[in-house]
Amino acid sequence: MANLETSFAGLSLRNPLIAGSSGLTNSLSKIKEMEQAGVGAIVLKSLFEEQIESHSEKLASISDYPEAVDYINTYVKMNHVEKYLDLIRSAKEECKIPIVASINCYKQDRWTDFAKSIENVGADALELNVVMLNAGDFDSNYLENTYVSIVRDLKKTIRIPIVVKLAKNMTNLPGLVSKLKSLGVNGIVLFNRLYQLDIDIENMEIVSGPVFSHPSDFSDTLRWTAIVSGKVPDVDIACSYGVHSWEDVVKGILAGASAIQLCSMLYEQGLDSVGNIITCLEEWMEQHNYTTIDDFRRKLSFSNVPDPTLYERVQFMKYFSNYKQ
Ligand SMILES: Cc1cc2nc3c(=O)[nH]c(=O)nc-3n(C[C@H](O)[C@H](O)[C@H](O)COP(=O)(O)O)c2cc1C
Repeated sequence: MANLETSFAGLSLRNPLIAGSSGLTNSLSKIKEMEQAGVGAIVLKSLFEEQIESHSEKLASISDYPEAVDYINTYVKMNHVEKYLDLIRSAKEECKIPIVASINCYKQDRWTDFAKSIENVGADALELNVVMLNAGDFDSNYLENTYVSIVRDLKKTIRIPIVVKLAKNMTNLPGLVSKLKSLGVNGIVLFNRLYQLDIDIENMEIVSGPVFSHPSDFSDTLRWTAIVSGKVPDVDIACSYGVHSWEDVVKGILAGASAIQLCSMLYEQGLDSVGNIITCLEEWMEQHNYTTIDDFRRKLSFSNVPDPTLYERVQFMKYFSNYKQ
């Protein structure tokens, strides 16, 4: 019988499937359904710093009194935070699997107090979703330096495991992951999916792009999981972005992931897909004589394949010359 237990970022999981942060993890009833469906851990919907800021600014703008502005700012902030802390408390009371809180932020100073409260109410870990684009006049190390300073600050504040969810727009991903690991980060999620946009050519305006990922998005996730797991020794990676089938789960683990986050797939295929993945994963492991996840994890990472350049240059010439016009 296959044993699906694994560990990610210091957390023991009954299986490698993690429900990624989204609207599917924003209430106690949904979290309980998710646990019932069989996932190994849950990342709660992020507490968005921008959301808090914009709410409080909107309310503040209708008041003429500076003291009132202060009061409103504090009230709105506390209200959001209190609700979030309640969600963690109740999830911890009612669920057995690890509950990971999530903060979506872009600056170092505004939310570290929340992080301490999150730890105090019993979250098993904190996932950090630092959302930034270097579209300004910042120097080329700006994004990396921001991640490093945020983690350094947070490490002084909390003791629970810290997971950093990275976007794809990093210049030197293995270098950054290595730096974060040396600062004490316990797990890395590859990748976060940024809000997608599009242009409406009739109405001449910017509109939303697709909300969900596509199976073809997984190729990048796989490549970078293999490269980072091969180049940064003992790093705990959770694959995310583009996982749409049980085969993707197997591939992610072969590339080096300790855990796999699911989001779009759960929206599109429903929570029953979790049970299906577990059954297929067990069957695949039995067919290939693997007893544990560690028996095949990293088997095809950058450091374990005979020709790692396949992950790097991907042989453009050969690839395109085979294409029949
Ligand atoms: C509706 C929706 C809401 C999301 N909300 C959050 C969020 O609050 N925090 C976060 O870190 N990621 C959020 N995400 C991103 C997902 O956690 C995930 O990283 C991304 O969708 C890529 O994974 P997928 O290909 O499995 O969907 C959201 C995604 C969707 C589709």
